[in-house]
Amino acid sequence: MVFSLKLMLLLLPAVLCGKTVEEWKGRIIYQILTDRFSPHGPTPSTPCTALRSYCGGKFKGIQQRLDYIKGLGANAIWISPIVLNTPGGFHGYWAKNIYEINPEFGTKQDLKDLIKACHDKDIWVMVDVVPNHMGYNDGCFWNNPCTPTKLNNFTGFVPFDKPEYYHQYCEIMDWNNQTEVEFCRLAHLPDLSQENDIVKRLLLDWIGNLTINYDIDGYRIDTLKLVPKWFWSEFQARAGAYCIGEATGSDPQYVAGYQDSVDGLLNFPMYNALRDVFNENKSIRNLTKKIQEQRRYFKELSRHGLFLDNHDQRRFLNWTSDYTVLKNALTYVILGEGIPIIYYGTEQGFSGGHDPNDRESLWPYYSTQSDIYKFIAGLTKLRLSHLSHFVSGGQREMAANDDFFVFTRGKENQFLVVLTNRGNTSGTLEWNVQVPVLKAETVYKNFFDETDTVTVDNGTLKLKLTGGLPKVFLAVQTPTSKAERSSGVTWKLVFVCILLLHLLSLE
Ligand SMILES: *[C@@H]1O[C@H](CO)[C@@H](O)[C@H](O)[C@H]1NC(C)=O
Ligand SMILES: *[C@@H]1O[C@H](CO)[C@@H](O)[C@H](O)[C@H]1NC(C)=O
Ligand SMILES: *[C@@H]1O[C@H](CO)[C@@H](O)[C@H](O)[C@H]1NC(C)=O
Ligand SMILES: *[C@@H]1O[C@H](CO)[C@@H](O)[C@H](O)[C@H]1NC(C)=O
Ligand SMILES: *[C@@H]1O[C@H](CO)[C@@H](O)[C@H](O)[C@H]1NC(C)=O
Ligand SMILES: *[C@@H]1O[C@H](CO)[C@@H](O)[C@H](O)[C@H]1NC(C)=O
Ligand SMILES: *[C@@H]1O[C@H](CO)[C@@H](O)[C@H](O)[C@H]1NC(C)=O
Ligand SMILES: *[C@@H]1O[C@H](CO)[C@@H](O)[C@H](O)[C@H]1NC(C)=O
Repeated sequence: MVFSLKLMLLLLPAVLCGKTVEEWKGRIIYQILTDRFSPHGPTPSTPCTALRSYCGGKFKGIQQRLDYIKGLGANAIWISPIVLNTPGGFHGYWAKNIYEINPEFGTKQDLKDLIKACHDKDIWVMVDVVPNHMGYNDGCFWNNPCTPTKLNNFTGFVPFDKPEYYHQYCEIMDWNNQTEVEFCRLAHLPDLSQENDIVKRLLLDWIGNLTINYDIDGYRIDTLKLVPKWFWSEFQARAGAYCIGEATGSDPQYVAGYQDSVDGLLNFPMYNALRDVFNENKSIRNLTKKIQEQRRYFKELSRHGLFLDNHDQRRFLNWTSDYTVLKNALTYVILGEGIPIIYYGTEQGFSGGHDPNDRESLWPYYSTQSDIYKFIAGLTKLRLSHLSHFVSGGQREMAANDDFFVFTRGKENQFLVVLTNRGNTSGTLEWNVQVPVLKAETVYKNFFDETDTVTVDNGTLKLKLTGGLPKVFLAVQTPTSKAERSSGVTWKLVFVCILLLHLLSLE
C-alpha cells in the first residue's frame, strides 16, 4: 500500500506538471542561447566579440529581462541546454555531467528562480536536451579528433563513464545511411548507446526527474535523426511534457517519419521552403505547393514549430538586408499554421552568418522601439487575441502568382494574409484575384491601416501591395472570439502538481 502510493506520487507529477501539445499550440516561443541573451546586472556597453567561448549570459540575466520578452508577445522561452559541459560548451550541447547545472549560467536555485519568475508572468519554459551524445573526451575537440585511447576514455563523464555505454567508435560520413547516422559520432562527439539498458534507464529517469524538479513545461530535443525512433517514444512518455524534436531536412515525407515518436517537430521542410522563396528569390508560388505537400505527410501542422532561422543557420538577414522581405516571412511564421518560434536577435535586426556569427550577444541592444521588435509585437498580439482561429481554425491557401501568396485563417476565413517576396523596390503590385470560396460582400480591414479595406466583389478581391510590405486583413463583419485564457482545468492540474511536488519533497 505504502509502496504503491509512493509509486503513484512519483508517476503522477510527470503526467500533470509539464504542458501538453494541445496547450503548447497556443504559445509563441522565443529561442534563447542563455550565454548570449543577457548577463546579470547592468547592460554592458559593447557586444561580446569572442563568440567561440563564454560571453557571460546568465539565468538571472534572462530573469531580469522577462518584460522585454513579454513585450515582444512571446509567452514561452526555449533555452539552450542547462547541464554542465566540457570546455568551450557555451551553447550547452557538450554534456559532461547531466546532473549538474552549468555553473557559467548560475546555480540550480537560479534556474528554479528563473522558471518561477517566468510562470508568474505566464511565460512557459522549454529546455533544450541532448540525449544523443556527451561532450568531448579529455583532449579531443571538433577540429581535433585526438588519439584512439582518448576517444575511448569516458571516465570524465557522469553518469556515462564506461565504454559499454557508448556505440563502437565510428564517424558519420554518409548522412543518407540511417544506420551510420544512428550509430556513429557527430563531429567526434561520444555517441550514447540507448540500446544499453542502463543508459536507457538513466536517461529516462533523468528526464522524468528534470520535469518534476524544475517544473519544466516542455523540451526541445536535439538531433532526433541520430537516435532510433523507438527511444524517442519512451523519452516523450517519461518527459511528461510537450517535446519538439529537431529532424532536419526539406523532404516532408522523411521528416514526418518522426511525427509519431514525439509530440511536435521543428518544421524544417517549411523552413527550407521559406528560405527558397524569401532568401533565394524562388517563386512565391512554391509556398502553396510545399504546404500542400506537407499536408499529405503530416497529420496536423499546428503542433509543429515554424521558424526562419536558429543557432545553426545563417540568420535570415544575412541573406538579405531588406526588412520588408523579413516582415513577409515573419508574418508567415506568426500567423501561419504552426507554433511560431522567434530566434533571439531577429527583433533587433541581427544579420550574423554561419556559426558562431549567428550567435551574437544580444547586449547592448534591448530596444523595444526597433522596427522589427514593434512589427513582431503587433502580429503576436493579433494572434494571441484571436487564438482559437489560429490554433484550430485551419488554414486555406487561396491563391498565388509570381508576386503574391494569399491565405486565410479561421473557420470562416476571418483572417486574410497577403504576402510578397518582391522587396522594397517593387513599387505597387496589383492583382484582381478570384476567391470563389470567400463569402460575397465580406469586407476585410487592414490590421496595419484601418483606412485600407478590400471587399469580396463578384468572387474577386482587388489586392494591392506597396513597397514590398505584407498585409493582414480581418473580416469586419464576422464576429471574432475573445482572447483565450487558461482554463480552470489547467489551474486545477497546476494545483495538484504543486501539492505532489510538496509531498515528494517531504519524503
Ligand atoms: C581519462 O580522462 C580523464 C579526464 O576526463 C583524465 O583525468 C584521465 O587521466 C584519463 N585517463 C587516461 C587513462 O588517459
Ligand atoms: C550503412 O552503414 C553501416 C554502418 O556503418 C554499414 O554497415 C552499411 O554497410 C551501410 N549501408 C550502406 C547501404 O552503405
Ligand atoms: C530521480 O529522482 C529520484 C527521486 O528523487 C531519485 O531517487 C533518483 O536517483 C533520480 N534519478 C535520476 C537518474 O536522476
Ligand atoms: C527575383 O526573380 C525575379 C524573376 O523571377 C526577377 O525579376 C528579380 O529581379 C529577382 N530579384 C532579385 C533580387 O534577384
Ligand atoms: C520554385 O520556383 C521556381 C521558380 O522560381 C521553380 O523553378 C521551381 O521549380 C519551384 N520549385 C518547386 C519545388 O516548386
Ligand atoms: C531596401 O532593401 C535594400 C536591400 O535589398 C536595403 O539596402 C535598403 O536600405 C532598403 N531600402 C529601404 C528604404 O529600406
Ligand atoms: C553575413 O555573415 C558574415 C559572417 O558573419 C558577415 O561577414 C556578413 O557581413 C554578413 N552579411 C550581412 C548582410 O550582414
Ligand atoms: C462576375 O464574374 C464573372 C466571372 O468571374 C464574369 O463573367 C462577370 O462578368 C462578372 N460580373 C460583373 C458584374 O463584373
